[in-house]
Formats: sequence, structure tokens, C-alpha cells
Amino acid sequence: MTTAYDAITARIADPVVDIILVGDSVGNVCLGFGHTLPVSMQMMNHHLEAVVRTKPHALLVADMPFLSFHLSREDTIRNAGGFLQRGADAVKLEGGAKRTEMVRALIDCEIPVMGHLGLTPQSINTMGGFKVQGRNADGALHLLEDAHRLQEAGCFAIVLEGIPAELAARVTESLTIPTIGIGAGPACSGQVLVFHDVVGLTAGHHPKFVRAYADGFRLLQDALSRWAAEVRDGSFPGPEESYRLPEGLGDIIAKWTPSNRT
Ligand code: KIV
Repeated sequence: MTTAYDAITARIADPVVDIILVGDSVGNVCLGFGHTLPVSMQMMNHHLEAVVRTKPHALLVADMPFLSFHLSREDTIRNAGGFLQRGADAVKLEGGAKRTEMVRALIDCEIPVMGHLGLTPQSINTMGGFKVQGRNADGALHLLEDAHRLQEAGCFAIVLEGIPAELAARVTESLTIPTIGIGAGPACSGQVLVFHDVVGLTAGHHPKFVRAYADGFRLLQDALSRWAAEVRDGSFPGPEESYRLPEGLGDIIAKWTPSNRT
């Protein structure tokens, strides 16, 4: 699974992965926020619609942003239902036992739900920042319990983010639904990384769990620099990038002067 937030990333990702996630990580990856909390339903719908227009074959999961599944069952169903009406196949939401009432309400409305446990970025204020979760007995047992509560509530898969590999392995072997890991070691049923992290379209620090398979930032900036240099030295555009007038029209426009205007 990887993320896509627009048509071009969806077109690149779709032939490669099984699941495309329109993640609320769009907030920090594309919109310049420092975290995902400012991301709204309106922003998510805008990006989901761009991805849907490419008609992806992969399972399309839309991420429920902060406050879109906290206020009431009705609000939650309307927000998640809106994603499905726009073309998503399923929704993802962060949180464990606290969120099972909303998970059940969605599944009752035929809306498939993917869970998300561990270092859930919408909880950074209560977690004290982006910190690996489940590193003590309490935290690890709590996470196992949460995973089973989500499975019982009807989730079809669970993202495990930022937890020790051994805990992710134990969660995965104890569930009948698949887990999808990000910073959760190799034993998960699947893996997810943010598209821009995989292709190196990032500036500055990236977390330990990211492996970049290209230096996209440098590659694209080099291409742009070569274009700018050729514009400045006059070698772009050349004849191949230029349109030509039909035969004879050159003479007509050459004779035109501001003073012989009709
Ligand atoms: O928003 C997102 O990209 C995510 C993934 C990191 C799982 O939730």
C-alpha cells in the first residue's frame, strides 16, 4: 500500500501496489503543515476526487481526518459515506477501543473500515510527539487488546505504525485480518510507505523506517535546473519545441507595421 494525493501519483502507483491510500499525510507531505491535525474533510475530498478521476484498479482507501469521526455517529457516517460516494472503496481511521462505536456504525452502513494503531499521528499531543508506541508492558498489551477490539468491530485490516517489530509480529499472528506495517518490522501481512518517501521527494530529515528508492528531490531539481539553464542560454525552445507558420504567411506578417493597421 502506498499513498496518492493527486492524479499523477495515483497513475504511477496504481499498476504497482494493491492498495492506494489517500492519506491525511497530504497535510505534511503536500500542504506544508507540520502535522496532520489541520487537514479537513474538504481537503481530503479534493485530493480523493483527483485520485478517483484516474479510475485506479487498486483498492482505494480514504483516510478520515482529525475530528471527522469523533463528534457523532451521524457526522462520522456522513463523512465516510461521502468518501464512498466520491469513489473510495473503504475508509481508514485512527484509534482502538475508543473508536469501535464509530467503526461499528460505519460497517452497519456497509462502509468497510481499515483500522490504524500505534503511533497514530492524530494523537501526537496526547502521545507527547512522534514516539514509538508499545515499548512497555502496559502499552504493548493495550495495543494487542485494541487490535482485537477493532477486528471484533469488523475492520478488514489494521495499519500498525511505529511499534516494535516483535509486537507487530505478535499482533499479526494473533489476528485473522491482515496487518499493514509502517515502522512496524517485517512480520506484518503487508507494508505501507508514503509515496513521496519511497521516491525521495522529501526535504530534510526522514524517519528511521523509511527507505528511499530514488533521490526524487535531486532528480527533479536537476531536470528543472537544466531547463532553466537552457532557457537562459537560448537553446530552449529549439525548432522541435516550436510551431511554424504555413508557407507564405511569414511575408504577410513581416509587412505589418503599427502605422499601416486597418
Ligand atoms: O496518512 C497516511 O499516509 C497514513 C499512512 C502513513 C498509514 O496514515
